[in-house]
Formats: sequence, structure tokens, C-alpha cells
Amino acid sequence: MMQIGNYQLKNNLILAPMAGVTDRPFRQLCRELGAGMAVSEMVSSNSLLWGSKKTQRRANHEGEADPKSVQIAGADPDMLAQAAKHNADNGAQLIDINMGCPAKKVCNVMAGSALLQDEILVGRILESVVNAVDIPVTLKIRTGWDKENRNALNIARIAEESGIQALAIHGRTRACHYKGEAEYDTIRAVKESVNLPIIANGDIKTPEKALYVLEHTGADAIMIGRAAQGRPWIFREIEHFLSTGDKLPEPTVSEIRDIMLGHLDNLYHFYGEFTGVRVARKHISWYSKGQSGGANFRNAVNRVDTIEQQLAMTHEFFEQLAQKEELAA
Ligand SMILES: Cc1cc2nc3c(=O)[nH]c(=O)nc-3n(C[C@H](O)[C@H](O)[C@H](O)COP(=O)(O)O)c2cc1C
Repeated sequence: MMQIGNYQLKNNLILAPMAGVTDRPFRQLCRELGAGMAVSEMVSSNSLLWGSKKTQRRANHEGEADPKSVQIAGADPDMLAQAAKHNADNGAQLIDINMGCPAKKVCNVMAGSALLQDEILVGRILESVVNAVDIPVTLKIRTGWDKENRNALNIARIAEESGIQALAIHGRTRACHYKGEAEYDTIRAVKESVNLPIIANGDIKTPEKALYVLEHTGADAIMIGRAAQGRPWIFREIEHFLSTGDKLPEPTVSEIRDIMLGHLDNLYHFYGEFTGVRVARKHISWYSKGQSGGANFRNAVNRVDTIEQQLAMTHEFFEQLAQKEELAA
């Protein structure tokens, strides 16, 4: 069982924060399908942005299951402390600090994984945020700045001394971006060296890989990002495999269709028609990946911009797939 501060998670499977993906509808869906926690998209520590529609939407947690974890990013200890306070006042129950995102936008202003270079600043940031709020603070990092500077062990020690309550580690350095396979030896070394709950992250795409990473690293939990795109049921698949050793059958096309249509409905309600249809496009693409005729379908559905047309086309595509599936059964 995974415990962060005073929060006991129902399992040790966590949806990774992904800007532009892990909005409230997607977090809720992953929670319903088995994730024990889902971290929100990153919220800027720049208070000038807090009034914007985008940031307000990111801070919306209505109806979301506990614990609600909100990620903040930035490089200034005082601004990050204020951001943490602001989010705690607006319903966050955990604050997650992003020192793991290699996005150019974030790296250029010396936030995200670029911060790992400056251990003194890391310590100041962590203390400042931990002291600013009375809710648990977690940290997300990569294994280091580049392969020669894998300083995750130092950062983990600083995190523990600063009162951080859990540490998520993506098994890549900043310089690796997304190239190659994530490595888990550094995560294991960190787990052996500190007493913090450790969350292992990177390239976990199957129940077997989930088991391997948990066993290899000794981590307390795992975090899944890209593999949940278009496959939010991956959490229940992993949970089932970890608890029984058996694999659940793949969801049928009609199950996928039902999950997706519910997801789309939530997106339309959350964003309204204009933005909702645009956000829905990428999810529809992910859900249709690997289905026969998927490329033509995506090409066509990406061109329409009303809810009515988007739903009708999606419905029709999955309906014919479901019929084919029934005939084959
Ligand atoms: C589209 C996208 C957006 C991301 N945004 C964030 C972010 O805002 N904050 C963060 O800490 N990590 C972010 N990440 C990194 C993921 O949280 C995760 O560490 C990474 O994708 C590795 O896990 P995976 O192999 O399971 O995808 C993002 C990743 C992707 C693909």
C-alpha cells in the first residue's frame, strides 16, 4: 500500500502529470479505471497567469477523488511557495514540484529538470515550498542532468532532509529527452539510500513491465504516462496482474467505444464546444490507434469542428468495428 503524508492510496499505480493531457476529465477516467492517484497538469508559479481561463481550468477539481495532487513548476523559491499556497487554498491536497519535465518552455527559464544542476537552489525551493503549506509536498525528477551528472541520489537526500513526502523518478536524464529506454538502476539506488516513498516512472507500458520495475527497483509505486493515452484501462490491467498473476482480456471494441464516448461527453462539458472538440481530437486519435481503417478515420474526424459531427463520425467508426468484431466472434 502506498501512503503519502496522511493519504493512503487505494493502490500503488499513479497517472503521471502530462501537460495538455491530464486534465480533470482524463484524471477522473483513469481513477475510475484503476489508478490510485492522478497528478494534475502543471500549474505555472507565475501568479500573473492564475486568472487566465487555462490556469483556472487546470485548478478545477470538482468531483475529483482524493487525494487531489497539483503540480507546480518554476525556479524561484518564493514564487513557488506562493503558488503552493494558492493551490492549497483552492483544493489541492498534495503539491507536486516538477523538476522532471524537459519541455523547452520549462527548461529555458531554468525550471523543470534544468534545476537539477543547481543542488543548492533545489534545497532552497524544497524548503520554501514545504514551509509554505501544511499539506504534503512531493517531488518529481529525472535521474540527473546528463549521463555524467546523474545526481538523483544527492537530490533524494536533499528532498528527504527538506521534508518531501514522496519522490517520483523518471529513469532518464534531462539530456536523454525521450530517447532510448528508461533505466531503473538509478531508481533502485535511490530507493536503497533514502527512507522516502519512491515512485518509479518511465516506459511502463504493460502489466509485465510494471511488475518488473516494481521488483527491480523496490519502488513503493509506479507512475504511468504515455501508455495511458488512449488506454486508460491500463491501470486495471496492471492492478489485476499484480494481484492475481493473470492477465485481463483486452477490452472489446464496444467497451472501448463506451469508455471513449463517456470521456468525450465529459470533455465537452468541461471545455465547452470549441475547445472540447479540439481537445477530444487527440484522445479520439489515441483510442483509434491500431484499429483497421484508423488512419482514414482520423484524417476525416480531425477536420470537423462541432460536437454533433465529431460524435456522429466517431460513433459510426466504432460501430462498424464492433459489428466486425461480433461477426468474427
Ligand atoms: C505530453 C506530455 C506532457 C508532459 N507534461 C509533464 C508535466 O507537465 N510535468 C511533468 O513533471 N512531466 C510531464 N511529462 C513527463 C511525464 O510525466 C513522464 O515523466 C514521462 O512521460 C515518462 O513516463 P512514461 O514513459 O510513462 O510516459 C509529460 C510527458 C508527456 C508525454
